[in-house]
Amino acid sequence: MDFFEVVKSRRSVRMYRPDAVPRELLDKMFEAASCAPSAMNEQPWRYYVATGESRRRLGEIMVQGTHYLEEYMAVIGHDLDDQLLHWYTELGGAPVVIAATMPRVDDEFMRLNKHLSVGASIQNLLLAARDLGLGACNLTFSYWVSDEIAKLLGVPEDRVIIALISVGYPADGPVAVAEREHDIACYLD
Ligand SMILES: Cc1cc2nc3c(=O)[nH]c(=O)nc-3n(C[C@H](O)[C@H](O)[C@H](O)COP(=O)(O)O)c2cc1C
Repeated sequence: MDFFEVVKSRRSVRMYRPDAVPRELLDKMFEAASCAPSAMNEQPWRYYVATGESRRRLGEIMVQGTHYLEEYMAVIGHDLDDQLLHWYTELGGAPVVIAATMPRVDDEFMRLNKHLSVGASIQNLLLAARDLGLGACNLTFSYWVSDEIAKLLGVPEDRVIIALISVGYPADGPVAVAEREHDIACYLD
């Protein structure tokens, strides 16, 4: 697919088919993720991939995490409805859930660098997923249960999970198209 077609057609997919995702495709996504720019070329990203039993157990933790949904909805200014509850308990039936991690740091500037670097890497991952015919969605709602998920996935103490990414083949049916503001640059002479 042409680069701009990939970029423009990527969507956050929240409903998946149960079909397993071949390991080669996940490897390609991580290859793309590893090519992202990073502050001081630190490459602070490490990904933990839950499939099978670990994916099932991660789902159980997400269900516990729904206790925090009202708090999360207040933060993002949304009302909680059945569709959202279903998404956060099932993660759209995604067969793969990836935890994106970075080193734990206290310094605010260093943390900013790492967040931006891992964000760039996640975007490469999402675009690669799109190009490979997969769907994916980046989510930070996991914030409230990230310690439990880290324990499940064996993430070491010196790293933190900053996002989850659900991955799978998109289910048939419409995918929400988010509105875009295109006038985002201010040119100065
Ligand atoms: C940092 C970040 C956090 C996000 N967290 C969530 C989340 O917790 N739950 C969710 O459903 N989507 C989440 N998303 C996906 C956004 O809702 C989505 O990207 C946005 O609505 C635009 O839609 P699109 O990705 O289909 O273009 C997140 C995206 C980003 C970049």
